[in-house]
Amino acid sequence: MPNWTLICRVDDISPLGSRRVTRPKGAPVAVFRAQGDQIFAILDRCPHKGGPLSQGIVFGTSVACPLHNMNIGLDDGRVKEPDEGCVPKFAVKVDAGTIYLDADELASVGTDLALPVAGPCATRGAVGGGQIIEVQTPHTA
Ligand code: FES
Repeated sequence: MPNWTLICRVDDISPLGSRRVTRPKGAPVAVFRAQGDQIFAILDRCPHKGGPLSQGIVFGTSVACPLHNMNIGLDDGRVKEPDEGCVPKFAVKVDAGTIYLDADELASVGTDLALPVAGPCATRGAVGGGQIIEVQTPHTA
């Protein structure tokens, strides 16, 4: 059973924008507001060379990595052909305009992978639950 933890409101993310959720251990998680206000969360680390996907361009339900432009599906974490690879995805719950991620997944998924090669130019915001998690906005659309 998921252990939902509050991240932010949907309106805190610009349309076709993202938020970056840092964790005590492991690469951050990128939360995207995609086409039609669909919310997705994937590891903020491109499977190619670790580019920060939260700084990529969102189109439809995909993101283009800012480093070498590989396209990654936000719904399944898979790299689009002709490239190959995948990035871990995270369960998302949206309730009454508020975004939640599973705290157990945040503590365990992708924690063994190296950090992205480029960092965010971020502002920081608070996340509920008393956990050591930071939410950052790398850019706005
Ligand atoms: S690091 Fe993402 S495409 Fe190369």
